[in-house]
Amino acid sequence: MKNVFLTGFMGCGKSRVARCLSAWYGAPCLETDQMVEQQAGCSVRELFETKGEAFFRQLEREVLHNIPDYAVVATGGGLPCQGDNMDWMLSQGHVFYLQVPAGLLAQRLDTPSSRARRPLLPPEKDLSDYVRTTLAAREPFYLRADHIIDAGVRPTPEVVREIAGIISTLP
Ligand code: S3P
Repeated sequence: MKNVFLTGFMGCGKSRVARCLSAWYGAPCLETDQMVEQQAGCSVRELFETKGEAFFRQLEREVLHNIPDYAVVATGGGLPCQGDNMDWMLSQGHVFYLQVPAGLLAQRLDTPSSRARRPLLPPEKDLSDYVRTTLAAREPFYLRADHIIDAGVRPTPEVVREIAGIISTLP
C-alpha cells in the first residue's frame, strides 16, 4: 500500500480530508506542519519569526523525505512548490490536489485562528488579491498531482468518497 499525499493551497481542507481518509484507508494520518513543529519544538509561526522561511522549508523537506510508508499525509500549502518535493511525492505514492477557487479560499482563510497560525497571510482584511496572485504562481506545481479533486463548495465526506473511489481502482 502506498502513501497518499493531499496537496493544495492553505485552507483547501487537506487536514480535514486527511483525517477522514486515513480512517477509511486504515493508515496513520500525518501532517507535515505538525511534524515540523515537533522537530523544531515550536509553532510554524514562531519558526518563521525566529529562523525564517528558508529554515522552515528545509525542515519541511526533511520531514517529507522521512515519512514512513503507508500514511495519509496532509502537506503544507507551499510544500509541493519547493525543490524536489513534488517529484518525491509522485515517486512515493498517490498525489491529490484539492482544488478550490481563490475567492472561496480567501473567505475561509480570513478567521482569527487561521491568521494566527499562518505567517504568510498578509494583514489586509481582504485576502483575495494575495490568494489570487499566490495561487496563480503555485498552481502549475499543484497541477502536477496525479489526481485533481474539486474541493470547492462540496461537503468533506463527498470529497473523501471521491478520493477513496479513485484509490480503490489503483494498483
Ligand atoms: C504554508 C502553508 C501552511 C504552513 C506554512 C506555509 C504555505 O500550511 O505550511 O504556514 O506556504 O502555503 P497549510 O497549507 O496547512 O495552511
